Amino acid sequence: MSFSITIEEQEITFLDEDKNILNTLERKNIESHFHCRDGFCGACRCTLKKGTVEYHEYPLAFIGDNEILTCCSYPTSDIELVIE
Ligand code: FES
Repeated sequence: MSFSITIEEQEITFLDEDKNILNTLERKNIESHFHCRDGFCGACRCTLKKGTVEYHEYPLAFIGDNEILTCCSYPTSDIELVIE
């Protein structure tokens, strides 16, 4: 099942082979911050405005309310993100 990711009115599709949201952003040439790609540093933190995500493994970096880490999460519904 593929879910859509909306960012600044642009809608892209998460594919299972992307494995995580950061990979989808990169595949679509959408700039976002990242560093460790493994849930440690928090550099990929962004705001989840709508929808739900799950983590492959729950990350160590702090995640605030309505925030997600794109490097280690995948959507479980259509989602809307705000990249800081
Ligand atoms: S890139 Fe480090 S937590 Fe996502």
